[in-house]
Amino acid sequence: MMSKYFLCNKQDIPNHKTRGFSIDIEQGKLELFLLRQDDRVTAYKNHCPHLGITLNWQPDEFMSQDGSHIQCSTHGALFNLEDGHCIAGPCTGENLTPLTSQIEHHPDGEIWLVT
Ligand code: FES
Repeated sequence: MMSKYFLCNKQDIPNHKTRGFSIDIEQGKLELFLLRQDDRVTAYKNHCPHLGITLNWQPDEFMSQDGSHIQCSTHGALFNLEDGHCIAGPCTGENLTPLTSQIEHHPDGEIWLVT
C-alpha cells in the first residue's frame, strides 16, 4: 500500500536553500530534507553515513557556508548537492540516501513524499 505525506509548498523553500522534515510514517519516524534549486527539488534522508546521526544543527540548515555543498554539522563532511556523494570528511566516498524518486510535485506547488 502506498502512502502519501504532504511536506510543504515549493515556495516555502527559498531558492538554493534546504528545509528539514521529521514525519511519522508507517515504518516509524523519517527524517529528511529538501533542497530547492529553481524548479528542481532534491530530497535526501537526514542521515549522515559517518555515524548515522542527523546532519544539521539548526532547523533547515544543511548547507556549507558558501552554499556549494550539503555539510554535516558534526564532523564537517561535504556532500555534492546533485547526487549526495561525500567528497570530503570522515565518510568520503559514501553517499547520502536519495529520496528524490519518492517526491511528487503537484502543478500548484505542493510537494508530497510517497512511501
Ligand atoms: S557524523 Fe557526519 S561527519 Fe561525522
